[in-house]
Amino acid sequence: MFMRHSVASKTAQADRRQFAEDVEYYLSQTPRQLPSRYFYDELGSALFEAICRLPWYPITRTEQRLLSMHAHDILARVSPLSTLVELGPGDGGKLMTLLGADASRALTVHLIDVSPDALDAATHAMDDRPEVVVVPHQAMYETGLAEVARHGRSDGRTLVLLLGSNIGNFDPPDSDAFLRTIRAALATRDSLLIGADLVKAERDLLLAYDDPLGVTAAFNRNLLVRANRELGADFDVNGFAHRAVWNAEASRIEMHLVSARRQRVRVPDARLDIIFEAGETIWTESSYKYRPGDIVAMLDRAGFSAADQWTEDGFALTLAEAG
Ligand code: AVI
Repeated sequence: MFMRHSVASKTAQADRRQFAEDVEYYLSQTPRQLPSRYFYDELGSALFEAICRLPWYPITRTEQRLLSMHAHDILARVSPLSTLVELGPGDGGKLMTLLGADASRALTVHLIDVSPDALDAATHAMDDRPEVVVVPHQAMYETGLAEVARHGRSDGRTLVLLLGSNIGNFDPPDSDAFLRTIRAALATRDSLLIGADLVKAERDLLLAYDDPLGVTAAFNRNLLVRANRELGADFDVNGFAHRAVWNAEASRIEMHLVSARRQRVRVPDARLDIIFEAGETIWTESSYKYRPGDIVAMLDRAGFSAADQWTEDGFALTLAEAG
């Protein structure tokens, strides 16, 4: 018990040090930025789960529909499957939908997420599947993939799940590099199932990222709440407004926090003392939107070949084989 606690608190300390370093670096850039991976503390993960239930954010529901419609086909194409790796499993719902197609399969499932709360939820979602061995990795995706590789391979094939349009939060060329990292962790004939949001009407995109209930605004501003709590910062959370913009040229939704007035902010643990001008922004997230062919081309560049693609309501699920 004592050992578990001390390992957990060492991890929390290291995470906080990394957060401080990233805040120091990214808030000093022009334009100022904060990396979106820091959205997902306990409250941020709960807010993200709430976003997924909003009528204006259809990604999760459409993907669930596509998964339940095509689970059988997908599992048949990757047979004999022995290992599943999900990058960013959320509450485990997508995995359950996919596995629902075959209840008796013996599998090792690796879950990789920076959020311990998401990992707990996804692990518990498998509680009534004794044939599934769950291995959680609280880590960034790249580190988690390296841990999976160290775990060793079993006889069958591996399927990596990169769902929920998580790829969209990587800026190119990082998205290509990330897909190449996944490819490098796989053997020929292993597969990747990738869910990605498609370009659609600007009005719908803006509603998805600036919803009338203000849940996405809370999700965005919670980054400041987290910096105040973990790094001793003194952000006036009310002094920053949520803004979502569609950048058509770059094919991405950007989220920003906009300073409502000229104000001073200190972040002692990140050695920062900043004056924000009125209207000055912190860029907190990019969410890239694709055309179906963009996804196939991106996979191709990373050494995968698309085997199947299903699209519905502005979302695409693409199954690709490692070549
Ligand atoms: C996790 N990720 C794919 C979400 C997205 O749509 O980019 C995060 C999110 N940001 C605002 N709403 C949801």
